[in-house]
Amino acid sequence: MAILSIKYKFPKNFWWGAATSGPQTEGRFNKKHANVFDHWFDIEKNAFFNGVGPNVASNFYNSYKEDIKMMADIGLNSIRTSIQWTRLIKDFETAEVDTEAVAFYNQVIDEFLKNKIIPVMNLQHFDLPVELYDKYGGWESKHVLDLFVLFAEKCFALFGDRVKHWITFNEPMVIVEGQYLYKFHYPNIVDGKKAVQVLYNLNLASAKVVAAFKQSKCAKQGGEIGVVLNLTPSYPRSQAEDDIKAAAFVEDFFNKSFLDPVVKGEFTPSLVQTLRKDGVLWESTAEELAIIKNNTVDFLGVNYYQPRRAKSKGAVWDKTKSWMPDKYFDDYELPNRRMNPYRGWEIYPQAMYDIAINIRDNYNNIHWYISENGMGVEGEEKYRNADGLIEDVYRIDFYEEHLRYLYKAIQDGANCFGFHAWTAIDCWSWSNAYKNRYGYIAVDLITQIKTIKKSGYWIKNVAKENGF
Ligand code: GAL
Repeated sequence: MAILSIKYKFPKNFWWGAATSGPQTEGRFNKKHANVFDHWFDIEKNAFFNGVGPNVASNFYNSYKEDIKMMADIGLNSIRTSIQWTRLIKDFETAEVDTEAVAFYNQVIDEFLKNKIIPVMNLQHFDLPVELYDKYGGWESKHVLDLFVLFAEKCFALFGDRVKHWITFNEPMVIVEGQYLYKFHYPNIVDGKKAVQVLYNLNLASAKVVAAFKQSKCAKQGGEIGVVLNLTPSYPRSQAEDDIKAAAFVEDFFNKSFLDPVVKGEFTPSLVQTLRKDGVLWESTAEELAIIKNNTVDFLGVNYYQPRRAKSKGAVWDKTKSWMPDKYFDDYELPNRRMNPYRGWEIYPQAMYDIAINIRDNYNNIHWYISENGMGVEGEEKYRNADGLIEDVYRIDFYEEHLRYLYKAIQDGANCFGFHAWTAIDCWSWSNAYKNRYGYIAVDLITQIKTIKKSGYWIKNVAKENGF
């Protein structure tokens, strides 16, 4: 391998890592509270692919030592996972902690460090405690935001001596879409006005956590905090004015609604204008807007899987229907697009470059990393060869194609410091459960035996050479 020359050499200290989350790996062992997905599974098993829920996941709670060792074996130098609110906290109102959970997360963090892996800790990955939904309406309630801050402060105080990179939220826009618009997160509400308020509340929650972080010892010792956003560029069908307008709305609502406040401290004027005109603008106070203004993030994580394409609305929007963002656009399917048929997502690596240049030119070239990128494939067992190795060359191709565009962007001045794949070890993917596999390492759901795939050996070499 080493004889091959390295064509794409990445910046020094580049993060070659992977992302995952607590609720998707740990399993519910010893966990005292249920999050919204745990609860959904408890009441409606068949909403999940093959009836598989989060109870065991990839057994990380019991096998974290072996798992982290395997992550180190394939050369990963950084890992993002999350601390579960429903595990760490015993009493949500006072943020009294569960001592067993504290011990668990301490051991996990120490294990990462022992294996020379930088731990990146996220505080919220779609795992709102269901009790807080039932009692207060979850993210609709500003009281819940304050409880989330209490939890975050506990995390900084307990683990901030060793964890230097924190994330407030993973893909907050997906919470808005899943819980309040398109029915893929419990409680599957369809309510555009509530969605808009929650969008605002999540921005406020993130800013409040950033504010709390700034007061922490960890920040004073050089720790940093960011947010992970799914930025899927919105491409218009054509250069016709109404297509461009439709795509611009999609960009405002699905991307800039978080990107602008977290980096610039302000909401996008054109978005505010549209929402106000439609009578669905969020309720805010001057004091809250000042918190958002003064507590922008230190760095950004970007999840990118698929582009988004929009065209002008075909049918006239039915005014008697309640407000939905879909009033302003239709999704557009590019003819002959390249697809990942398992996940139903278009493959468009060029977007990597466009995302990077957008951040360079419009977001102060803030430092950022790819916090998720990956290819979910169903039935990977059929690619297992006689030696037992899953030959996932499609995944290697997918990563190399995306990395080439990222490399080009870095050459052109993008301030990108890392690339995290989704994911290190096959993990549970919400209602898709274990349908599609994403890992560098496969997991057998029955035996829980884990084996490195071909892509695991590939990334090991990429990390070693700092390129490919
Ligand atoms: C992302 C999400 C992850 C994972 C991934 C693959 O949107 O952040 O939790 O599920 O999709 O499905």
